[in-house]
Amino acid sequence: MNKLLTNHKVLGDERGQLIAIESGIHIPFEIKRVFYIYGTQPNVPRGQHSHNITKQYLIAVNGSCKVTLDDGVNKVTYVLDQPHIGLFQDAMVWGTMHDFSPDCVLLVLANEHYDDQDYIRSYDDFQKLISGELNG
Ligand code: TYD
Repeated sequence: MNKLLTNHKVLGDERGQLIAIESGIHIPFEIKRVFYIYGTQPNVPRGQHSHNITKQYLIAVNGSCKVTLDDGVNKVTYVLDQPHIGLFQDAMVWGTMHDFSPDCVLLVLANEHYDDQDYIRSYDDFQKLISGELNG
């Protein structure tokens, strides 16, 4: 899962920095929803679920956090600590956001509207679904 990180071009000049992210160009889906997480607690992880069809793209636009992605085979922890680094989380990938810095603002772009039914919140269920996919 090493190609999930993108180092976006920073369009900076003497006035400051700017990063542009366009659907289908910089990220592999059409954006239907944007949410952001802030005011987190240092030792309190978030996420800890996967989605059936929702794909996400995560950027720590301020501060830092870690994101652990688990596709049922590989589990990799990514450090998001710069506003030009983005991480793609595909559907059917278990994701946990953790180790937030107090100033972290984690921006998440998603390809679907919010739907509680799209969540897989039990790791057991996730593993069963993944092993079903892997075995046929
Ligand atoms: P939750 O899924 O628990 O956040 P996390 O992914 O960090 O564990 O979401 C927190 C609350 O916000 C919960 O009541 C659902 C609601 N919510 C929305 O209404 N829309 C959204 O797009 C998201 C991500 C959450």
